[in-house]
Amino acid sequence: GYQGLAATPPMGWNDWSYYQCNIDEKLILDQGRALVRSGLAAKGYNTVTTDDCWMGKSRDASGNLVSDPQKFPHGMAYVGRQLHRMGLKFGIYEDAGTQTCGGYAGSWQHYDADARLFAKWGVDYLKLDGCNVPSVPGQSAEQTYRQAYAGMSRALRDSGRKIVFSESAPAYFQGTADWYTVLGWVAKYGNLWREGYDIALGQQSGAAKWKSLLGNYDYNVPLGRYAGPGHWNDPDFLLVGDRGLTADEAQTQMALWAEMAAPLISSTDLTTLSPQALAILGNRDVIAVDQDRLGVQATRAAHTDTHDVLTRPLANGDRAVVFLNRGDSPLTITASASTLGLGPAQHLSGKDLVTRRTSRYGGSVTVRVRPHATVMLRLRAA
Ligand code: DGJ
Repeated sequence: GYQGLAATPPMGWNDWSYYQCNIDEKLILDQGRALVRSGLAAKGYNTVTTDDCWMGKSRDASGNLVSDPQKFPHGMAYVGRQLHRMGLKFGIYEDAGTQTCGGYAGSWQHYDADARLFAKWGVDYLKLDGCNVPSVPGQSAEQTYRQAYAGMSRALRDSGRKIVFSESAPAYFQGTADWYTVLGWVAKYGNLWREGYDIALGQQSGAAKWKSLLGNYDYNVPLGRYAGPGHWNDPDFLLVGDRGLTADEAQTQMALWAEMAAPLISSTDLTTLSPQALAILGNRDVIAVDQDRLGVQATRAAHTDTHDVLTRPLANGDRAVVFLNRGDSPLTITASASTLGLGPAQHLSGKDLVTRRTSRYGGSVTVRVRPHATVMLRLRAA
């Protein structure tokens, strides 16, 4: 992968879906401290990213990006230093165009200078959004975006600091003929890229969140061929912890994201996380599936209106399997060993990664799944 970074999917926290532009230095550092205090940082959630609206509307007199002096009075290098002191990594947001989606100073025509500045600030992770990319005469939008992301990729490499690169480009080509072309180059320039629409915001209803996470899952799940060590599909933030999602729905998002080798980037208020939400985010066995070094995204072994079965090979030869009940009534779901990629085994054994119970099965696995819930198993031939 790019610069040997992100051998496994990035993990951390980002302010956007919960706070949008209502951010400041205290909030970011409080969330960093909560990441450490909760034990989530030790489990791998190590990158705190300041999304849109941290910067001024325009650059300073010498053309440098500057942080909003009200929100970040000590500047971004200070934020980076404090996060590093906590043992965390510092992520920052910018935009490939003239302005960010929120209307703040974008990076267009400043990639080299901005990358050098980020390196100087101790930035470890850059999310480069794709709003307000101007149209260039004689070029298709796809060509312009490609040059932009290639340009920032080169600038980050030349900055001398190892910076994980998250690209929003594919999200700007969804539903267009050029979408596959964009997916053809993102892995060359970056480590992860956004797929699907923006996940529901913290203040939206539970129903909207469920619909949104299922939508992003459906969008992302067929794209496994683009993912692998160093380069990952990103179906957007984990909403685990947000009001509105039921415990089953939150657990479902965690299971689906882990099964898809997705970046695990929480966007919620970590200072008020319930024990239940903390247990979902912090489940070591589920995290281990997400972070498995083989880095193979799950494929769909079955897909109906009411349920999906996913299977993913793991480095030690096990299979991580997820049974998803998409519907509103309880379901019994059965899958054979061969459907799960474990054929021709006649006997299977495995562990339920949520209840932690181990079980033995014959040549097929049958599970009972509550509405909107998942059963996630780690299976092997017995
Ligand atoms: C669009 C992105 O997809 C979101 O994740 C967020 O970064 C906003 N822009 C910020 O304006």
